[in-house]
Amino acid sequence: MKRFFKTVLPKIVFLTLLVSCGNLKENNLIDKKVEDLLSQMTLEEKIGQLVQQTTIGYTDNMIGQIKQGNIGSILNEVDPDVINNLQKVAMEESRLGIPILFARDVIHGFKTIFPVPLGQAASWNPQLIEEGSRITAVEATSAGVRWTFAPMLDIARDQRWGRIVEGFGEDPFLTSVMGAATIKGFQGKELNDPASLLACAKHFAGYGAAEGGRDYNTTVISTEQLRNTYLPPFKAAVEAGAGTLMVSFNEINGIPNSGNTSLIRDILRKEWGFDGLVVSDWNSIGEMLNHGYVENPEQAAEAALKAGVDMDMENHVYLHHLARLLKENRIKESMIDDAVRRILRLKFKLGLFENPYVEIKESVFYADEHLAKAKETAIQSAILLKNENNILPLSDKIKSIAVIGPMADAPHDQLGTWVFDGEKSHTVTPLATLRAEYGSRLKINYVAGLNYSRDLDNKQFAQAVAAAKASDVVLFFGGEESILSGEAHSRADISLPGAQKDLLAKIAETGKPVILIVMAGRAIEIYKELPLVDAYLFSFHPGTMGGPALVDLIFGKTVPSGKLPVTYPKMVGQMPLYYNHKNTGRPPAGELETIENIPLEAGQVSLGNTSYYLDAGKDPLFPFGYGLSYTTFEYSDLKLSATEITGKDNLRVSCTVKNTGNREAAEVVQLYIRDLVGSVTRPVKELKAFDKITLKAGESQTVEFTLTPDALKFRNNQNQQVLEPGNFNLWIGPNSAEGLKGAFILK
Ligand code: GLC
Repeated sequence: MKRFFKTVLPKIVFLTLLVSCGNLKENNLIDKKVEDLLSQMTLEEKIGQLVQQTTIGYTDNMIGQIKQGNIGSILNEVDPDVINNLQKVAMEESRLGIPILFARDVIHGFKTIFPVPLGQAASWNPQLIEEGSRITAVEATSAGVRWTFAPMLDIARDQRWGRIVEGFGEDPFLTSVMGAATIKGFQGKELNDPASLLACAKHFAGYGAAEGGRDYNTTVISTEQLRNTYLPPFKAAVEAGAGTLMVSFNEINGIPNSGNTSLIRDILRKEWGFDGLVVSDWNSIGEMLNHGYVENPEQAAEAALKAGVDMDMENHVYLHHLARLLKENRIKESMIDDAVRRILRLKFKLGLFENPYVEIKESVFYADEHLAKAKETAIQSAILLKNENNILPLSDKIKSIAVIGPMADAPHDQLGTWVFDGEKSHTVTPLATLRAEYGSRLKINYVAGLNYSRDLDNKQFAQAVAAAKASDVVLFFGGEESILSGEAHSRADISLPGAQKDLLAKIAETGKPVILIVMAGRAIEIYKELPLVDAYLFSFHPGTMGGPALVDLIFGKTVPSGKLPVTYPKMVGQMPLYYNHKNTGRPPAGELETIENIPLEAGQVSLGNTSYYLDAGKDPLFPFGYGLSYTTFEYSDLKLSATEITGKDNLRVSCTVKNTGNREAAEVVQLYIRDLVGSVTRPVKELKAFDKITLKAGESQTVEFTLTPDALKFRNNQNQQVLEPGNFNLWIGPNSAEGLKGAFILK
């Protein structure tokens, strides 16, 4: 031990100081370069850096704009030759040779497509998500893209909202962890590594609280909800080093976020100390006219710049109006200078001045190791929600399978939403995998039954039924086409689209065992269909390698370990529905009256008078954090390091988890707390930690978490961060609805 303190520790301290001094030195050097460059720039050149323009290729118009210094960033150009040619114009033919920052939405893969982000969240494996994001960065940067608009960190509690698929679900802690992992994967160790992809935490903020789950719609969010639910993932992103943020389309409490000074300048910049770049969303500055917040584009530009939006995506109000606003003293040049500094600083940090051009390395696209990582992620993202009589994994006594449904062989739709560059020709579908890997051993009777998810034509039904009758088991691949989720794709009916429900019912009537596999961009309402099937394997659109992943799970080559990142509703009428809700003054408890059992002419006060639905009860179909395995796990021996703590103590909490089945498998051990009384009401449960562990059959492991005082703090409606003494409950368990319960007092 003495040796450690005498020799090892001083070296660690010295190296740490050296590195931080190095970073400090590098940042100072960059700041100096930025100031030198800024001092040479004309007002027009400064304003040009605040403009993001979508690509129109290597055209005279684009070349002319670049020569004039009117463009700081180009969106959606992914041809490396075009990128290099446009960059050459910027470097050699514009007055100051400032490189362009090329950007693209690379949300869950560039060429190799990973599961959609909500699926990645279902893996509860941040390390895996970081590795996948690194692969995405390597592929995207090899085409010349150096900035992407991800991770999306919008907390969402409503499956009707089309963009719920793009985030990491309903929980602030899980979303924070997954967002940070994505940022680290994208940005790598050094931004000036040519394979590093600048991240953008979006959409800042509260976008997922859209009224009715209707995209872009109004959000009304209390201070305590904004602070305790919607903002934490963005704060975590800033702490993880995200280089940029994007403001969202929506208004919060009457203020559109592209003009929300309190959100950007007060919280993001002053309170959190973020000095990266804030970009608008597509035309979101101009949309303040639609909101009725400004009267004309000039006022929109003024409101956005004053609020702290640095770059104008695709609206051009900065290009067209900032000079005049300055002349009329409605804005200050220092506001423009600050925005330009942030953009130039990032371009220096990315190494664009020294290495502006992309070396074309197409060989990285769909590399074997990339596809393998995408498959592993799809495996860990799939969630087993029902497995009656352990029908899965399929027995090797099965000699014939019927493969039915519109998603069995849907190479485009399996990829999910927000896919611009991944090609469906590379998608490996379940049907292709079954034929390749099991075609020699099994009779595979494939009848789509419906040609796409919205298909209403039942002409193939008889054939599909015949295929089921001729087989030992049915694999029914249902779900949503990719276009039914994502931006502007909200649905009021979240059940299986088209005639899938009818087809499934016909197949179930054959009496054959049915395995339902759903690929979708949201938790699909399946309440009525669930009793018809023996097993239910759910996958948010799984990407390029979804077929091999799902088939390996179905045949037991690997074991499901996914857990729900959202609460899975019985029906759409329950929306919004989430586990970390408040208790209300009338929490539903015990036996609840159901609509079927209410006596005729029942008296006005005869029912339970608590907060639930007569026709849906109080519970979801499946709770947040839920997912089955091919083995079972037993939780025992909950231990707390203390039952009373002060605001200075950490609380260690542990339990034993045992694999009581006969398969090695992974389990996501989750820690929840409840603060029983607060100066503002507190959620009935809050996820505070999780650990994905792998146990051999019969193996036990003690899992320990540490609860710090910070984990018990919250914001009240006066926006004060408080730690309030009182009673707490805690649970360690396999999901948000069950677990070993303990309690402690914070003195
Ligand atoms: C879109 C989206 C945003 C995306 C941007 C650029 O409208 O809201 O998430 O990054 O425009 O495509």
